[in-house]
Amino acid sequence: MKKITIAIDGFSSTGKSTLAKQLAKKLEYVYVDTGAMYRAVAFFAMQHNLIGTDFFDKESLVDALPIIQLEFKFNAELGFAEMYLNGENVEKQIRTIEVSNFVSRVAAVSEVRSKLVEQQQEMGKNKGIVMDGRDIGTVVFPDAELKIFMTASAETRAQRRFDELQAKGDNVTYEEVLKNVVERDNLDTSREDSPLVIADDAIEIDNSYLNKEEQFDAVLELVNDVV
Ligand code: C5P
Repeated sequence: MKKITIAIDGFSSTGKSTLAKQLAKKLEYVYVDTGAMYRAVAFFAMQHNLIGTDFFDKESLVDALPIIQLEFKFNAELGFAEMYLNGENVEKQIRTIEVSNFVSRVAAVSEVRSKLVEQQQEMGKNKGIVMDGRDIGTVVFPDAELKIFMTASAETRAQRRFDELQAKGDNVTYEEVLKNVVERDNLDTSREDSPLVIADDAIEIDNSYLNKEEQFDAVLELVNDVV
């Protein structure tokens, strides 16, 4: 069977990564969570006091880009790759609400985007890849054979993210998570460089009322139509 590129874009907490992981496992493809890369850069900026609620030293972050090394390492026990920042596993640190609160400002910086997009294109050059993010079907792989765009209401998404964070013992309120989801939607759709838009040839899936299995089956049919 021929290997293809599958691009999954959409708003935050629409279940993109769950779907992408299911597909990668089934098809024996590589899965790349590009959000983790932007989160790792945001975490770096936080660690070095380059970003806070009321300041962002973009210039210093851009200057530091050459020393920011991002790498995915496959964890066989978990069945997916984890994010390493300059050799350190930062998978846990990048999933906090603090990083979520800063990441979209970091992701709006063109120099950050071009560095990460280049790395993403390199990872996908041999196809057989499922990549999720915001600009995969529009910028990273405009020629992807299958493009999915996922949506769900902000409330549904906030509830899902809230449940996840609570399960991990994170001390957040639903209102805080909803505010973050709405703010990130606004920043991601309004930024100048690679805003979150649906590609002309993407297939839109609103999963507010679909469970994981129904969604997976629907997308698998789409894959079978292409390969
Ligand atoms: O996918 P996730 O919610 O983890 O992504 C975190 C943030 O990274 C997004 O809200 C967005 O600002 C940014 N992002 C992006 N382009 C991508 C992936 C993520 O701008 N391809």
